Amino acid sequence: MSNKSITTKVGDASGRGSVAGYRVNFPARMRSYSEAEINAVVNVMRNAEVQTQGTYMRQFEADFKAYTGANFAFAVDNATNALRLAAIMCRIGPGDEVIAPGYTFCASALPFGMTGAKLVWADIDSKTWVIDPEDIERKITPHTKVLLVVHLLGMPVDMPAVMKIAQKHNLRVVEDCAQAPGAAIHGQKVGSFGDFGCFSFHGAKNITTLGEGGMLTVKSDADAAITPGLRHNGIRPFSGERERYWVPAMSNVDIDLENVWPNNFSIGEAQCALGSELLKTLDQNNDILISQAAKLRTALAGIPEITLAKVPDGYRHVYHQFVLHFDGSAFGKNRNDLLDFLTSEGGIRAIVQYHPLFRYPLFQKLGASDQNCPVLDDWWDNSFSFPWWIGIPDETMDYLVDSVKAGIATLKG
Ligand SMILES: Cc1ncc(COP(=O)(O)O)c(C=O)c1O
Repeated sequence: MSNKSITTKVGDASGRGSVAGYRVNFPARMRSYSEAEINAVVNVMRNAEVQTQGTYMRQFEADFKAYTGANFAFAVDNATNALRLAAIMCRIGPGDEVIAPGYTFCASALPFGMTGAKLVWADIDSKTWVIDPEDIERKITPHTKVLLVVHLLGMPVDMPAVMKIAQKHNLRVVEDCAQAPGAAIHGQKVGSFGDFGCFSFHGAKNITTLGEGGMLTVKSDADAAITPGLRHNGIRPFSGERERYWVPAMSNVDIDLENVWPNNFSIGEAQCALGSELLKTLDQNNDILISQAAKLRTALAGIPEITLAKVPDGYRHVYHQFVLHFDGSAFGKNRNDLLDFLTSEGGIRAIVQYHPLFRYPLFQKLGASDQNCPVLDDWWDNSFSFPWWIGIPDETMDYLVDSVKAGIATLKG
């Protein structure tokens, strides 16, 4: 199984993509596009009258609203800006606090930090590895205004518990659904529980609209009324309600905004046409990820040193990533020892993702370094991700499992 010809170059800016010399690579994207998806884009290139803010955007929003069961859906250029819009509409600033998971991708928290509010890190649940509602409740103060929860890796957060806490303390709830389109709790889709749901169609996500894209789902009429203007430079498109359409301009910067400035977070028509097409097979593709995960779970079940997240009954975890926890403490070894074996002996580009945010110099310098997340600290130091994509062959999964077994046997000595 030896594979010593590994280079240490990363595949692209995010560290994804093929790296020469590895037998099993971490992919840059989940799957390839179908002919129907390619045709959806080409059709817009050939036939669409407008390239942005047109019928394809409205259709994608209608499709997404129907798919998630959210009250409103607004297409945007990426999830970071969906989160930014949510943060703006939460109307927070210096002196306010936002409770956020210590374990997530940095983009979950940056838009909230940008407002000047303080980020307060909550721990993860020891079984599901996503934000722990009990720790959220412990960290609420009179300054808390927003609960930011992240359905990380495709695992739904316990939203009924989060919503109960939010109602009790009168807090706004933002769901970061970037990694979890189609995830659900007893049939209710993520993004339809909180005040806002923020989805990503970035290149590596379960669905991608040509590398970038996002959707903001919104619960209240009041927020939905100002979202299009906040998304697009304060403009409210003319829709026939003014007698003289040119007064004061063909489109009108007249939305009722107080203390917030709009921006341009728009997405193009070709991406929206593709998005509608991708939604048609999202459940089917998530089912493939779920059945791949089931196979790996069965194969790894007999290895006492390996633990996987517990999926609560009735939860649909859509496996954006496949993450494992390794406990080699009985024989004095840790996650890094196992990863050294998997990479150098197995040629497997297993990786460690999403460092606890309070450990990053950026967050520390910006004043978000308070940490009181003992479960996360211990868990993270011992977790890692397998390479993972839709359609990973059975023999590759067998190889991953055999390599973990061989690694553990070697580490035990
Ligand atoms: C959990 C999480 N939140 C937010 C984002 C930001 O998404 P985007 O790249 O669409 O801005 C990502 C993307 O990687 C993510 O994984």
